[in-house]
Amino acid sequence: MPATPDTTVIAQKAVDLIAPDTVVGLGTGAAATQFIHALGARVQAGLQVRGIPTSDASAALARQLGIPLVTFDDVEAIDVCVDGADEVDLAGDLIKGYGGALLREKVVAAFSRKLVILVGPGKTVPALGTRGTLPVEVVPFALTPARRRIAKLGFDPQQRMKDGKPYVTDNGNFILDCKTGPLRDAAATDLALHAVPGVAGTGLFIKMAHTVMIQEGDKVEVRRGGAPE
Ligand code: A5P
Repeated sequence: MPATPDTTVIAQKAVDLIAPDTVVGLGTGAAATQFIHALGARVQAGLQVRGIPTSDASAALARQLGIPLVTFDDVEAIDVCVDGADEVDLAGDLIKGYGGALLREKVVAAFSRKLVILVGPGKTVPALGTRGTLPVEVVPFALTPARRRIAKLGFDPQQRMKDGKPYVTDNGNFILDCKTGPLRDAAATDLALHAVPGVAGTGLFIKMAHTVMIQEGDKVEVRRGGAPE
């Protein structure tokens, strides 16, 4: 199993951005987990914040660390969401969802005033789709026709499996991991995939990130994300 990339320095940097009495979107994955641990330490030291988790796993971790959780019914907006990513392109746009939480991650990010992305080495790409696959979440009823339609778009959808069984998201859906190759127009691809009936969400996060923090060893780079000013 590959070692978890060290993103502890940027996780701390992200925690420094969290103001008291704010609502914080809690991402999913290794980098987000490091952030949640750092935030938990601040909460234990007296920082008052409330969190909205992007997965059951992040909710469980936040509870364990004493971070109070709320839902969309309890708050008007999220001040900042801190999450990881699987690919970051030169414009600061993203592919997410290798960890399977793409749909809730996109909902929380979309209703956050700021999205801060934390990544370790090897995640920056010249064009989205270069490194690997694009996860697409599909409702179970539509699996077969959606897969056929996505195959016709040329994206070679493979159903994600776990322990020999179809992988099921926290929303009860399936994931098709699509081999897209480097995308010339990621926004157009996102629209085309969303137009397939039964597609609940894609891992393309276009013009959503405000800040991208990249950690390679002890070196930290902070870039503007793709979101408009
Ligand atoms: C979870 O669904 C993903 O979008 C993660 O945020 C993303 O895969 C990055 O995870 P790591 O920090 O574990 O690489």
